[in-house]
Order: sequence, then structure tokens, then C-alpha cells
Amino acid sequence: MEIMEVHETAFMTSMFRAMNESLSSDTFSKLWSNSKTKTWVDAYLTEVSSEEVQTHCVRNRFFLEKIKQLFKENKVDTLLNFGSGFSMYPFLLDGSIQHIEIDKPEIIDFKKKKISNWIKEGKLPNRKIHFLGTDFSKDYEASITTELKALQKTKGTFILLEGVLFFLNKHQAERIFNFFEKIQKKGDYIGSVSYDASIEKRAAFLRLQDFFFNKKLTTSKSDYLTLSHNFYKEKASYSVIEHKDYFRYSKELNNSINLKTTDILNENFYLLEKHN
Ligand SMILES: C[S@@+](CC[C@H](N)C(=O)[O-])C[C@H]1O[C@@H](n2cnc3c(N)ncnc32)[C@H](O)[C@@H]1O
Repeated sequence: MEIMEVHETAFMTSMFRAMNESLSSDTFSKLWSNSKTKTWVDAYLTEVSSEEVQTHCVRNRFFLEKIKQLFKENKVDTLLNFGSGFSMYPFLLDGSIQHIEIDKPEIIDFKKKKISNWIKEGKLPNRKIHFLGTDFSKDYEASITTELKALQKTKGTFILLEGVLFFLNKHQAERIFNFFEKIQKKGDYIGSVSYDASIEKRAAFLRLQDFFFNKKLTTSKSDYLTLSHNFYKEKASYSVIEHKDYFRYSKELNNSINLKTTDILNENFYLLEKHN
């Protein structure tokens, strides 16, 4: 059995988005496609849940539409994507938005090279992207703060944490939100994705645990993070201004649900606004 590393999950996420472009609205994620990821994706869809194509597309679409709307309303002009993986928001959003993409150094180095080549080849439009390699399990705060100071003044920031919390522990999750509080000002936003603890009883989640554990991505079957709604609601400086999940947002997009609830890895999408 081949060992899976965390960057493979970023490739897989991109492939899911490419598998239903009209649902994800991501017309560039297919650039990341490769045969090794296809093998993982096929195995994952068979062994864990075939609905994972749609769940990833709906998630991407939710945040894409939110950021577009907040930009249009003149509230956001900078996107900080924590654990950005191979997501393609810079190319799907207005060219005047500035982007800070933060992930593990090996992901960032690889993405930076690929993006630069694709821009040169005319496969992607030019965008203002600052790439930052770091590790959320280490001391990352000072380097990101320095990087942010070097940027031009912003009207408003949107911090995105999509598909990342699952890989952190509770302490790291608390720490990253404390950091967000320090770098954001009143009126800024956070978009966050997490599983609620109720998912732990679902058949698809048990299969997900097995899948990642068997590929040594996790070191034990309980090595993952779920968060309750209170984790967000109790943040002193933020208000939850929107909370959706796969089922609710699917209705708005007219996405039909194919499997029964217990076979679906339902994720929660939160939108938080800093109020002080
Ligand atoms: C499932 S991918 C999601 C990528 C992207 N947000 C998306 O939705 O397409 C998870 C990402 O989190 C990053 N990640 C996980 N743990 C991390 C850590 N400790 N420090 C930095 N990045 C991390 C991985 O490198 C990977 O790119």
C-alpha cells in the first residue's frame, strides 16, 4: 500500500473541482490533473463516498460566490488563503484583488513555479499573488505578520480556511483563530470549513478514517479534528453571519443529492465577521 502525504489531498481536492466545473465554477483546477492523483481519487470515490465530487464543488462555489459578493460591495480587496493547496481563487476573482497564499513550503514552491509558467504560457491571467511557505504546527505568526506589513494598505481582508482544520489539532485550531484576531480589523471576514462532531457516527466518516489511516496520512483513527458550532459562536471578536452546509447550499444551487445522508461527508461552511 502506497503512503499518502498531505499534499496529495490538495491535488485530490483540485481534481474533484475539475470533475464538475459547472458546479464548482472552477475552470482552472483541471491544470493540476495528473495520473497519480486520478488513482487516489478513483479509490477514494469508491471506498469512501462517491458524493465527494459534489461536496468539494459546492464548498468551492460557496466561498467563491461569497468573496465575489463582498468584493462587489467594496468590503474586501485582499484574500488570505491559509492552507491554500492548489486552489485557483486568484484566477476566478477580479484581477484587482490581492492574494496571499499560505501553505507548507513544498506546496508553495511547487505552486509558485507552476503558476508562473502557466501565466507565461497564457494558460492563466496575471494576478497579484504573494506566496508564503510555513507550517501551522510550528511558529508561523511572526513571518506572516512581517509579510502582511510589506503589503499595500487594504480595504478589507477575507481569510479562508478551507479543507485545513481537519488536519490540525484543537490547540493549533485555537491558535490560528487567535492569530486571525490579531491580524484582522473590524469589518474583516473569515470563511472556515469544518466537520461537526455528529459526523463521527456516519458510515462515510468511518470509511474516511480507515482510508487515511491505511495510507498512513493519519497516525491513528482519531487523529482528525471536528468542531462544534460553539467553537465559532463563542469567539469574542467575531459574529457568525452565515452558516451553511452541503445540503443547504446544494438546494440553492439545484444540486441533486445522490446518496443517503450517512454516506455523505457533510461539511459546515461558516462566514464570520469581526465586530471589534
Ligand atoms: C485538503 S487540502 C485543501 C487545500 C485548499 N484549501 C483547497 O480547498 O483546495 C489541505 C491543505 O492544508 C495544508 N495543510 C495541512 N496541514 C498544514 C500545516 N500544518 N501547515 C500548513 N499547511 C497545512 C496542506 O498542505 C494542504 O494544501
